[in-house]
Amino acid sequence: MQVTLTVNGDEVTREIEPRMLLVHFLRETLSLTGTHWGCDTSNCGACTVLMDGEPVKSCTVLAAMAGGHEVRTIEGLERAGELDPVQQGFIEEHGLQCGFCTPGMVMTARALLDRNPDPTEEEIREAISGQICRCTGYVNIVKAVRWAAEHPAGAAATAASAS
Ligand code: FES
Ligand code: FES
Repeated sequence: MQVTLTVNGDEVTREIEPRMLLVHFLRETLSLTGTHWGCDTSNCGACTVLMDGEPVKSCTVLAAMAGGHEVRTIEGLERAGELDPVQQGFIEEHGLQCGFCTPGMVMTARALLDRNPDPTEEEIREAISGQICRCTGYVNIVKAVRWAAEHPAGAAATAASAS
């Protein structure tokens, strides 16, 4: 079957197997390997992307179901060479170790900040409760999201305050 959807602002049309999952469509058909595939049980959250602005586990969505929708992946967060504040926050607060969970964490945090620009620690922890991190203990991930909330202009704000 043929599917047409928007990925990171570009409309794409591809021939796919009807059973193909969105995570495999992104990684294998479009070579967007920033979206990770971490389990067979829909538990880990590493595959999280935004569909029409809402975080979804892309291993639970058929590529065909994404037809006509807007999908945003970690590759689509950077704007004109500037990291998204959430990405910058993960750098500033050392919010990752192995990095496997990071794309899903970042996309979930982006969706949270889009609907709630000033979340509490509790709200952040609730938002990322569908994501498993085996390395960090979550403390620095929460700090990274708070950094992004406090620096909505991202790295530009950091550079300005340092000068
Ligand atoms: S790959 Fe683990 S929840 Fe999707
Ligand atoms: S940084 Fe390794 S799983 Fe989260």
